[in-house]
Amino acid sequence: MQVFTEIMPLRSFLAEKKSQNFKIGLVPTMGALHDGHLKLVEECTKSCDFTVVSIFVNPKQFNDSADFENYPNLIGQDLEKLKKLDVDVVYNPESTEMYPEETYVTIGFGKLEKSMEGYFRPNHFGGVGLVVSKLFNIVSPDVAFFGQKDFQQLALIRKLNADLSFGIEIVSVPTVRENDGLAMSSRNLRLTEEERTVAPVIYKTLNLLKEELLSGKTVEDSRRTAKTYIESYRSIRLEYLEVVDSNSLAQVFSIDQHSQVSLCIAAYLGDVRLIDNLYLFSR
Ligand code: PAF
Repeated sequence: MQVFTEIMPLRSFLAEKKSQNFKIGLVPTMGALHDGHLKLVEECTKSCDFTVVSIFVNPKQFNDSADFENYPNLIGQDLEKLKKLDVDVVYNPESTEMYPEETYVTIGFGKLEKSMEGYFRPNHFGGVGLVVSKLFNIVSPDVAFFGQKDFQQLALIRKLNADLSFGIEIVSVPTVRENDGLAMSSRNLRLTEEERTVAPVIYKTLNLLKEELLSGKTVEDSRRTAKTYIESYRSIRLEYLEVVDSNSLAQVFSIDQHSQVSLCIAAYLGDVRLIDNLYLFSR
C-alpha cells in the first residue's frame, strides 16, 4: 500500500495503472475509519482491480468550526486498518495541497439541498460537491463508493456526477450498525458513555416511524408519535425527522403517492450531531 500526499505523483502513478486498463475504485473518506468505511473498502476491492482510499478532513464542508476542530484524526490507526485490506493507494493530502489558493468556484444543488442537511448545515453540500469533484478529477476512478448513511449526500453526488458528466459509476453501500442499531459514524467516538447508551434511540425512532406508517397511520400522525417518543429522552435534541421521496428528496405528505420513500433523522447528543435514515419501501 502506497501513501501519497501530493496530487502530481499520485496522478502519474495512476496514469500508469490506467494505461494497463485497471478498473480503478475510489473510496472517499474523512478518516477515523470504522467498520462502515471498511465495508466500502471491501466492496471496492471486490469489484475493482485497484483501490484508492482518500483520507481528507475537508474544511470546506464544515459549517461549524468546533465540529471541524473536534473531528477525530486517527491517521496512524487508519493506515493500519487499510493495510490489512487489499488497498493499493491512500491519498492523504494536507489542506494546502487540496486548496493551494482561495477557491471561487461554488457548487449548488438547488432544491435537493433545501431541506434536511442542506437546510441545517448551510454551505455543507457546496463543500462536499467541491471536494468530491476535486477527488474525482485527481483520481479519475471508474467507480466510487459512498455509504447510504449519508442519504442526502449520496443523492447529491449522483446528481453531481450526472451534471458534470464525470461518467463514474456511483455505488452505494448499506449502513453498517452496531449491535444495538446505532449507525456507525466517526462522530460516535465523541459520545460520552451515557450519551452512547441513549444514542440507539435515534434508530429506534426511525423504526417506530416506519411501523406507524406501514400500519396505515398518516404521515402527520406517525411523525407526531415518533417525535413524542424521541423527545421523551431529555439528553437528545431532535433537529429533524422527515419522510421524503427517495429520488426527489421532496417532503412526503401521503406515502400512497410515492413509489420510493425514505425516513431521515438528525439529532444532537450533547454537542455531537448524528444522522441516520431508513428506506420505508421501494415499489
Ligand atoms: O462522507 C464523507 O465522509 C465526506 O462527506 C466525503 C464524501 C469524504 C467528502 O469529504
